[in-house]
Amino acid sequence: MKAVILVGGKGTRLYPLTLGTPKAMVPILNKPFLEHMISYLKKYDILDIVLAMGYLPDPIQSYFDDGSEFGVRITYLVEDKPLGTGGAVKNAEFLLEEPFFVFNGDVLTEIDLGNMARVHRETGTSVTMALTPVDDPSLYGVVETDTSGMVKQFMEKPSRDEAPTNMINAGIYIIEPEILGRIPSETFFMVERELFPVLLEEGQSISSYASDAYWIDIGTTDKYLKVNHDLLSREDLSSPCLQSDNDTSHHEAMIEGPVLLGKNCALGENVRIKGPAVIGDKCEVGDNATVEGAIVWQNSKMGRSSLLENCIIASNCHVGDNCHISSGCVLGDSVVIGDGSNLAQQTLVWPGHYLRCT
Ligand code: GTP
Repeated sequence: MKAVILVGGKGTRLYPLTLGTPKAMVPILNKPFLEHMISYLKKYDILDIVLAMGYLPDPIQSYFDDGSEFGVRITYLVEDKPLGTGGAVKNAEFLLEEPFFVFNGDVLTEIDLGNMARVHRETGTSVTMALTPVDDPSLYGVVETDTSGMVKQFMEKPSRDEAPTNMINAGIYIIEPEILGRIPSETFFMVERELFPVLLEEGQSISSYASDAYWIDIGTTDKYLKVNHDLLSREDLSSPCLQSDNDTSHHEAMIEGPVLLGKNCALGENVRIKGPAVIGDKCEVGDNATVEGAIVWQNSKMGRSSLLENCIIASNCHVGDNCHISSGCVLGDSVVIGDGSNLAQQTLVWPGHYLRCT
């Protein structure tokens, strides 16, 4: 089966990280998010991939090219204006002759796509959607089903009391191509609001595939941090996991817990890194600095005696000496933080900014 992956959104909830980097290229464990997704699809022999793009398509295209290096075939479609989740799939109609998968391009999951395809074949519906349980359904599109798994109703962001279930739309669908006739061309259209509920109203059946396999959407900075921590904490990565090449120099750094260290990094004396944490390629951590739970993209520098806690530092940043970057802080690309600065929790600093607090 082919897969259409929707990667055209602006990812505003991940600002400032996504101001210069499309969500699909945001690194998870030092690899673009989309590379993880492609590995997942390959496990199910899904090798023909259509990337429906809009916002910042060039970095995606230049990294993945025709997909051959990653073992898949990629076709790129770039929208002149945002077409929404439905309009983007309609745009790919000429490439879709058989039932196909659609993926929101910000979901990392282990949902079993083979079983989902089997449910689709057995139920014979035009649409099958994956469902996943969440603790707080009030932030999502909730999907109620009957005992045989057929969708009964959709509720968009219900209050916790109103939500009839905690099962939500996981952003993965199997769709029969003829249903694309229901979507207008070159028009902004959302399948979640304008197609699926309408099919139900008309009495058409939509089947579901509920799974409690790992599922997370990386749409917010909290969840971006969580997905990195989750993956690092898995048993299949040994702990501590110092993935440095011999190119990385570290003077007896104290590394605790799962830490992923990129290539060509330089760690000063008495550096302490407490996982789960990720340091990108070509980063420098100054003497006596401490990094705890932080995710640092490539080519960033942390000054001497600085403390970074559960924060996200994008590429090419420079954190000065004796700084404290607290939990939940996010520095966009190329941010400079002056010596002795103290960033309160959840501070967002936009790309190109220079903060000097001393
Ligand atoms: P926010 O601005 O933070 O809400 O993020 P977003 O723009 O990515 O929107 P959202 O998370 O709701 O989108 C879900 C998925 O659909 C993401 O993978 C988006 O890239 C994708 N998407 C949203 N709108 C479009 C669009 O107009 N065209 C395409 N091709 N993809 C879209």
